[in-house]
Amino acid sequence: MKISIIGTGYVGLVTGVCLSEVGHHVTCLDINPEKVDMLSKGISPIYEPGLGDLMVKNMEAGRLSFTTSHILGLKEADVVYIAVGTPQGSDGAANLSYVYQAARDIGRNITRDVVVVTKSTVPLGTNHKVKQLITANLEGNHCVQVVSNPEFLREGSAVYDAFYGDRIVIGADCPEAAAVIEEINKPFGIPVLKTSISSAEMIKYASNAFLATKISFINEIANLSEKVGADVAEVAKGMGQDARIGSQFLKAGIGYGGSCFPKDTSALVRISEELNHDFHLLRSVMEINENQKTVLVEKAVERLGSLEGKRIALLGLAFKPETDDMREAASIAVAEKLMELGAEIIAYDPVAAENAQRILPEGVLFAAQIEEAVKDADVVFILTDWKEIVEKALILSSLFMKNPIIFDGRNCYTEKEVKKYNVEYVSVGRMPVIPNREKEFEVTLAASF
Ligand code: UDX
Repeated sequence: MKISIIGTGYVGLVTGVCLSEVGHHVTCLDINPEKVDMLSKGISPIYEPGLGDLMVKNMEAGRLSFTTSHILGLKEADVVYIAVGTPQGSDGAANLSYVYQAARDIGRNITRDVVVVTKSTVPLGTNHKVKQLITANLEGNHCVQVVSNPEFLREGSAVYDAFYGDRIVIGADCPEAAAVIEEINKPFGIPVLKTSISSAEMIKYASNAFLATKISFINEIANLSEKVGADVAEVAKGMGQDARIGSQFLKAGIGYGGSCFPKDTSALVRISEELNHDFHLLRSVMEINENQKTVLVEKAVERLGSLEGKRIALLGLAFKPETDDMREAASIAVAEKLMELGAEIIAYDPVAAENAQRILPEGVLFAAQIEEAVKDADVVFILTDWKEIVEKALILSSLFMKNPIIFDGRNCYTEKEVKKYNVEYVSVGRMPVIPNREKEFEVTLAASF
């Protein structure tokens, strides 16, 4: 069976590479010639652990190739995956123009019966529209079936998720088409849930909306915990031990970012509005998240007064560790707010700096090393919990700063860890740690560095 994938973004590329890894022959199509050129040389355009090596391995084995040509890419395909972007439009709804273009291209270029699989996250009803568009553009008399197969991978662990995901959802109105996709996925050994197309479309939005809700919920509990002297990490642990709640996605911080949660929550609210349903809960989740992004700045103003002229080191810029993705990262809102308040920003990220330079406001300085960022800083903000940052931020602040103070948006340290150093530490949903500057510290900093 020959598989073609339209779109080599996160979803398309990871899907293509992983399907080839389990033995399928995969052609990945993209309209961007520079990207296809890079991919054909074995270079991954995104930072994603394990992806580059697996890609090269399967290209060398002759199972994976890349092309810009729809004729070449679709002529011999038995199964075509649509994995193009569905970016958020100015009205909050998903922009489906790339999906519809892919559908037209499929119709014009296929030469046999095909099963078309929608991987892109699309609003309810889109798969039916995709089928109509393909059929309207068909040049031969071919049978086309459409299957919704939403993607649940997380950036930073996308390859792992492809092999160890919790479920594969296959939404189809035609059992034969569903069986084809089930067979393709068999080598992954992941439980399959077969549903209708509408349910599969809804499962994707509902899952992301629910996870976003968990995060906003714990962030509200964090804000409340600070007021009553509770520790949100302890609260989350206690909640998570109830199997009905579960311990995941209860880490308080400066809110969720990335390519999925902000876009999908917004799209689901729009879908609801179009159906005359007010999704009040989800609107609140989104509002809480927006406010949460700048809580650290508010804490800094409260503690230090004016931030005018203060040099602030922003450690971590990507929306989460192990990715260079800056989409909807909290660092953007934090940098904008700090600039507004007249602070001087020196930013550091081990991987996302290049992307960040294109997005963060003009005037933000960038450090090549974490040491350089912390060296002359008056204040340190931790925005992404990269391993390197967690390992070094506390000790470097203690060594280099005159009056070390860290505002930690990811709750990287316990009170016990912080107390070993001469550092004032403000986190989210927990009491600040104020050092006794007179006290002799148990740890010799130089020795532990
Ligand atoms: C998410 C979903 O997890 C995935 O199933 C879907 O396919 C795409 O969207 P992703 O955006 O890559 O994946 O990352 P995820 O690990 O879910 O984190 C999203 C954001 O939530 C990050 O900014 C992260 O820092 C934040 N987060 C996550 C929290 O603030 N607290 C948590 O407990 C978990």
